[in-house]
Amino acid sequence: MMKTLFLPYQVLNFSSKKFEVHQRLHSKVPKMELTITQPDDWHLHLRDGDLLKAVISSSAKHFGRAIVMPNLRPPITSAAAALAYQESIFKALPRDSNFTPLMTLYLTDMTGPDEIKVAKRSGVVYGVKLYPAGATTNSQDGVTDLLGKCLPVLEEMVRQNIPLLVHGEVTDPSVDIFDREKVFIETILEPLLQRLPQLKVVMEHITTMDAVKFVESCKEGYVAATVTPQHLLLNRNALFHGGLQPHNYCLPVLKREIHRQAIVSAVTSGSKRFFLGTDSAPHERHKKECPCGCAGIYNSPVALSLYASVFEEAGALDKLEAFTSFNGPDFYGLPRNSSKIKLRKAQWRVPESFSFPFGDIVPMFAGKTLEWEAILV
Ligand code: DOR
Ligand code: ZN
Repeated sequence: MMKTLFLPYQVLNFSSKKFEVHQRLHSKVPKMELTITQPDDWHLHLRDGDLLKAVISSSAKHFGRAIVMPNLRPPITSAAAALAYQESIFKALPRDSNFTPLMTLYLTDMTGPDEIKVAKRSGVVYGVKLYPAGATTNSQDGVTDLLGKCLPVLEEMVRQNIPLLVHGEVTDPSVDIFDREKVFIETILEPLLQRLPQLKVVMEHITTMDAVKFVESCKEGYVAATVTPQHLLLNRNALFHGGLQPHNYCLPVLKREIHRQAIVSAVTSGSKRFFLGTDSAPHERHKKECPCGCAGIYNSPVALSLYASVFEEAGALDKLEAFTSFNGPDFYGLPRNSSKIKLRKAQWRVPESFSFPFGDIVPMFAGKTLEWEAILV
């Protein structure tokens, strides 16, 4: 399926001096490698319990840090809960791992400004996540009226310099599901930023050219966006290709090809406003392949490989490192990682599934052959 959306490979342009890119002359088949600063994942679902233990190493292997989503059951609505969740993530990590989970709070109608002060003081909370109530997995405790009910909290976030991380979709069932991001921008995000222009906002997992234009129209350093591998590589045909494809179903749902192309252009342009956020969202196979399957794509094992392919096809490998490793920490005001990772042009086959005592998890592009592999330096 990937090949049908990929353009033929282009001749790579390695003119940038910033990158250590070379052909490996000693092997029979020359292999391209690039060494980049270790990436971070600025949007990740790690879950809890058995699922957390099952998926954590696929993120910790490649990424230095991750912004960890708070949509557990019950959701992470306080700094105390964020701290406890962070401890359970540390416990689940392989012993030699340097991975750092950056925690978030789940915004509700009841969140008070004092919780934001406590969150800032805790030193573990890096963002507050807005789920419009009913928009997606475990969003039932989310916000029903952002400007009506959350203004004091948002004002405190401006004072504490904590960004609002936005699931940007309206939930009105009369709005077509493919238009929900655009309508969210027009009816919620624009009025919010007119009211609070100093608020830092990350539009998570953008899916439309409308979101690209919106982010580009905002003040740099205040509004940015994360971009997933699936929204760079797949359009909405992938939901129905040869039959219903539950493992390509996520929210916001995949959009038309013109939107995919707009997002590819935006991230490969070198703009600082866009950065890596996988939205890797594992669900057990039986929760995807069933009459009312969950939204979410488990992509952390393949994400870096896929981002590299996207930038390669756009002839923009020289812009990859800023997207994966610089723009995110710069936006959050955090240091860039000092460790490195290698991306090597080498084919590998994605497992059909990962098996655990509690069940299987099917990764994005299961069974497909990918062109780049990530290796630690
Ligand atoms: O597809 C999605 N899955 N989108 C979200 O917003 C939530 C996520 C999940 O938690 O499964
Ligand atoms: Zn998400």
